Amino acid sequence: MLVIQGGAALQGDVTVEGAKNAALPIMAAALAVRGDVRLGCVPDLVDVHTMTQLLQSLGAEVDRSTPNSAVINADNAQGHVADYELVRRMRASICVLGPLLARHGRARVSLPGGCNIGHRPIDLHLKGLAALGADLRIEAGYVIATAAQLRGAEVDLSGPHGSTVTGTCNVMVAAALAKGQTVIRSAACEPEVVDVGRFLINAGAKISGLGTPVVEIEGVDSLTGSAHKILPDRIEAATFAIAATATHGSIRLKNVRPSDLTSVTNALSAMDVEVSSTVDELRISTPRQLKPANITARPFPGIPTDTQAQFMALLATIRGRSVVTDGVFPDRFMHASELLRMGAHIRRVGASAVVTGGTRLSGASVMASDLRASAALVIAALTADGESQIRRIYHLDRGYAGLETKLNALGANVRRESDRQQPSAVKAPHYSSQSARQRTDS
Ligand code: EPZ
Repeated sequence: MLVIQGGAALQGDVTVEGAKNAALPIMAAALAVRGDVRLGCVPDLVDVHTMTQLLQSLGAEVDRSTPNSAVINADNAQGHVADYELVRRMRASICVLGPLLARHGRARVSLPGGCNIGHRPIDLHLKGLAALGADLRIEAGYVIATAAQLRGAEVDLSGPHGSTVTGTCNVMVAAALAKGQTVIRSAACEPEVVDVGRFLINAGAKISGLGTPVVEIEGVDSLTGSAHKILPDRIEAATFAIAATATHGSIRLKNVRPSDLTSVTNALSAMDVEVSSTVDELRISTPRQLKPANITARPFPGIPTDTQAQFMALLATIRGRSVVTDGVFPDRFMHASELLRMGAHIRRVGASAVVTGGTRLSGASVMASDLRASAALVIAALTADGESQIRRIYHLDRGYAGLETKLNALGANVRRESDRQQPSAVKAPHYSSQSARQRTDS
């Protein structure tokens, strides 16, 4: 668990890692590439380790001996089965479906199953791959996909809450090696999807329209080894920016792309935070008094759902009424009940959470339910009076590299302690602690 003594304002510089949500689909896409794939700025995260194991289980060679890099060679990767034991640890394992199908003409990938941030179907992934000619069925908890020859087609990936990030990646990789032209309508525009597209282009794919809802792909015969540097993690950057704001601190974020963070910095500016940027840096400086705000998470370029929980923790500290809504995962509010235990006033009203902020939060023992919920609890604890213990931090390790080291360098007081209760004796609110450990969120 993390033990956090609240009260210190974050001050100083922090360097952001490469983006988890680009690294994972890019590593998966390497299965469809011949020769060495050399990746830079790969974050050192548990999820990246899990993806490494998944690729190795499929027969790929993955060398991660140099920090923040990965060299992947899938030339002898003959496996086409992504086993439940690995997929259950990380939903992003579904990213191997498109690459395996493109590479072998067949794939057997475990369905990811339940999740703590809401309903997460994969129907759009399947719809996209079916449009390219794949034959798909679900059997014994696995997606079984076959395709003698993938063929380019038009496919619309719009769902009830926008497009699909990993679904767009799956279809893009499959289409890159399909015969003929594919047009993806309602493609996800997230910067991580663009990064996957750029990686594929470096490997020889013909893709245009990245970052727009219409992506066109002209299939090629093969993709060949290439080098790619993973883009900076906008969610990690936003988490630090929000933490600095909540603690009334002042920080400089290095290795960021401010244009990927416009919705976040606009929201902070509306609260009266001073934000300034250069090409790859962002400065955040917080006045004494902040204004409440209404935050609605939406697909890019909207406020990311992956920052919604962190914003909620911040708003709980700002005097006045704020409303938080998640337009991507409408039920992603499990963090609210733990924030209540720290003294926050949050009420669910319809699809939104109404936060009445301003009461000083008090340190408490709380439990993280997913990766970003954990980040929200860390932010709340940094602002709280007294000590907090945050349990189930294995979620944090999946998405934040060296979080406590970085926070302590900014002046926070955070230490990691072994948590004897974790996870076997801790009672989870809705399911057994064992199944909680098995649930995934990335
Ligand atoms: C990606 O998940 C991210 N994970 C998530 O990051 C992120 O929260 C999410 O995109 C939204 O931005 C990775 O990139 C590895 P979606 P993904 O498919 O691709 C619905 C984090 O904390 N939908 O874009 O699985 C879905 O229910 C995490 O780092 C369908 O209806 O999300 C949701 O409402 C967790 N059918 C919306 O679309 C489908 O087939 C967006 O989901 C797929 C999705």
